[in-house]
Amino acid sequence: LSSIRVDVSGVETGTQLTVKWRGKPVFIRRRTQEEVDKAKEVDPATLPDSNARNANLTGDSMATDENRATAPEGAEGLAAEEWLVMMGVCTHLGCVPLGESGDFGGWFCPCHGSHYDTAGRIRKGPAPENLPIPLAAFDGESEIILG
Ligand code: FES
Repeated sequence: LSSIRVDVSGVETGTQLTVKWRGKPVFIRRRTQEEVDKAKEVDPATLPDSNARNANLTGDSMATDENRATAPEGAEGLAAEEWLVMMGVCTHLGCVPLGESGDFGGWFCPCHGSHYDTAGRIRKGPAPENLPIPLAAFDGESEIILG
């Protein structure tokens, strides 16, 4: 299956790059410390979907913030936590959620009102699952390989 490389060197903290991959949008967000802290405050066991939904991990991984983020190799601190790479496809009926919106400061799907948090986890509304994380890995500090 096709892989693509994405240059993320121009993505500023607090912004998101959206790329098309296999016909679907992928959100690559460089989160602020505040967004990361907010995501970490939550006990994943209390979430509507406690599964990480991360194709890079085993299927039973919990939806901790660490299990949702994509880290460059050897990165520490915020550099290891800030990147979130996920499909921009609502798990309800497939609309594209809007960034920096909703009750949890993450994404909001305007189609039927699903609220995702700053780690892309469903918190409120009809969507059954967290936004899925595709196969994704850093190559160096500024390139992400999808697939
Ligand atoms: Fe997103 Fe229905 S498609 S809430």
